[in-house]
Amino acid sequence: MTDEMIKTVPRVGVFICDCGGKISGTLDTEALRQDAGAIPEVVYAARESYPCSKDGQARIRQAIAEQKLDRVLIAGCSPRLVEKLFRQAVQPALEPGYLNVADVREQVAYVHAGDKLALLKAAGLIEMGVARLATTSPTPSHHGRVVKAALVIGSGLSALTVALALADSGMRVTLLEKSGALGGSIPDFQERTRQLLAEKSTLVLKHPMIDALFNAQVTEVSGHPGEYEVKIQQGDQSITYVVGSIVVDNGAQPKSLGVSRWFDRTRVKTQAEFEKELEQAIAPGKMLGLENIVMIFCAEESQRQRCSRVCCNIGIRQAMRVRQLNPNANVTVLFRDLYLGGIGGSYEGEFMEARKQGVTFFRYRHDRPPVIGDQSVDVLDTLTGEPVRIPFDRVVLTMPLIPHDDSPALASLLGLPQDEAGFLAEPRVRLRPGRYADPGIYVLGSAQQPADTAEALFQAYLTSSRAARFLSQDKLTVDTPVAAIEAVLCTGCGNCPQVCPTQAIRLEKRDGVLSLSEVDEMRCIGCGNCVVVCPVKAITLPGWDNHEIPAQIAAALQTRQNGGPKIIALACEWSAYGAADMAGSRRIPYPANVRILRMNCSARFDPYHILWAFISGADGVFLGACPPGECHYGTGNLYAQERIEKLRTELKAHGVDPRRLRLEFLTVDDGKKFAEKMTDFVEEISSQVHK
Ligand code: FES
Repeated sequence: MTDEMIKTVPRVGVFICDCGGKISGTLDTEALRQDAGAIPEVVYAARESYPCSKDGQARIRQAIAEQKLDRVLIAGCSPRLVEKLFRQAVQPALEPGYLNVADVREQVAYVHAGDKLALLKAAGLIEMGVARLATTSPTPSHHGRVVKAALVIGSGLSALTVALALADSGMRVTLLEKSGALGGSIPDFQERTRQLLAEKSTLVLKHPMIDALFNAQVTEVSGHPGEYEVKIQQGDQSITYVVGSIVVDNGAQPKSLGVSRWFDRTRVKTQAEFEKELEQAIAPGKMLGLENIVMIFCAEESQRQRCSRVCCNIGIRQAMRVRQLNPNANVTVLFRDLYLGGIGGSYEGEFMEARKQGVTFFRYRHDRPPVIGDQSVDVLDTLTGEPVRIPFDRVVLTMPLIPHDDSPALASLLGLPQDEAGFLAEPRVRLRPGRYADPGIYVLGSAQQPADTAEALFQAYLTSSRAARFLSQDKLTVDTPVAAIEAVLCTGCGNCPQVCPTQAIRLEKRDGVLSLSEVDEMRCIGCGNCVVVCPVKAITLPGWDNHEIPAQIAAALQTRQNGGPKIIALACEWSAYGAADMAGSRRIPYPANVRILRMNCSARFDPYHILWAFISGADGVFLGACPPGECHYGTGNLYAQERIEKLRTELKAHGVDPRRLRLEFLTVDDGKKFAEKMTDFVEEISSQVHK
């Protein structure tokens, strides 16, 4: 053996945890230690009572030094609980990716007590862990600078508050307003809100650290967290700003009534139109023409599913103002449900006050909405079941608040997700429980859902502190796995940029015919979707690589299983793997011939992994993913679903029973469901496929 070969053969140490009897009470950990010691890459195997204790960690460090270990596997409880702890404990001797944890507690001892296959399963999981360690590569850290400047898009109350807070803390702020004046759209027409807006607008315009740009819009965004290059168009001028963080508060707007309504638009107004009428009625007596006003809350069917949260109280305030302007006016509010959720019960107080002032509230049934006639509104009395006719000279309709017209463009420029109504959401990628990747992009105020004054301010204070903390960092460090491209293999096909959820990959021109994909490491969140779609496998993702995953599959399937079908479960660590943990914690058993392989996201599963599993002897392959809408990397689970469907069709066409491949959506709480689905799958494979 040459020196070079000696250097590259891994020296793996395996530590088997007794867990104070929780594992050793069910499994023969000494037998496991001997089994582990027989694996070719393992040069040291030991048992520990509590490796997670301070003493246990010290003994692991000592063994690393004495035995010259370059990789370590702990066979104990769930990696979701202890992997971070152990990775910190072995630094700086071992690079974090060179420590792995095999779960023989939640996945074996807790769920297969008394099962004769339990020991084989535990040994199999250890072999899988060693196979992964033997084939893995280090995860390099990446660093980026943080530009001490922010772009604030919008000029509503939240935007102005954030801009002032950041500027006061010494950051340069560019505030961008698409119209010609500050103020944004105001969903909450309160006098106090107007005053606040006026005060903050004055401060913003005078602040030496704030540049306010009017009639301007973002046309291009590039760069990465801490250093975004933003192109802004203002008139015929295009200016590029470099900022560390971007705050979005482009507000919401009331839906217009449209042109197809048949009723008299001079007498039927939306809430926003009526607000303008009220603004013009500056003196009492000006509204004398309006004696009978009927307000219809939730005028659109869509508001049944999605409450705009601020319009009930806007309507209640308008009703009170009408009574103040004209004490003889009859004001009737027709409502289906009332949302009175203001902070500190303030909304309920306004409702009580309106009733005291003589405003009539009348509930209608959602299946019998009010009908607007020429002179009156017909509605069914929910108490008596009798029809009621209310005359009107003004009907005011509460229309839903919808996202601003520029929301889709901002979503695409900034890579922001949108909810089903089109409101923007923050790109929050969870790295570990309670820890999120912070790209320095924040969405707040009515840009994400209609917010009243109190809520808008509350969000603004929170966002200011988050953005200030982000911008005050000296540098950003990414130490989670990110994709890397092998330039010599890349053909510039363009597949990878299309599936990247954070727009971290772009195609660059290079000499010759082919382009080259390039990854922005500060932007990549390591979902692995690009690795799957690369036709020439030029993309790698340390920790979840095309060497490691097949090696684990092979190890899982080559181990003895004592008859019965061989089942491999590829489990997203944010959902199905957590569900398996939950099944373990709750001691819910399922068949012991299931080997669970942890994946970072179902997007990383490659059809080739499934085929490799079948070729290696799997009778069934189970893929556990986050439910639609809950993938931590955006829509990785939907890509997985599409790939599974295609693959099942292909399998069938080639004479392989497609029932051997199953996809299930699970959440981390689904311990019982996980056990039931695994049991059902194993039974189906046993009875139908593995005959
Ligand atoms: Fe679970 Fe994507 S993170 S499927």
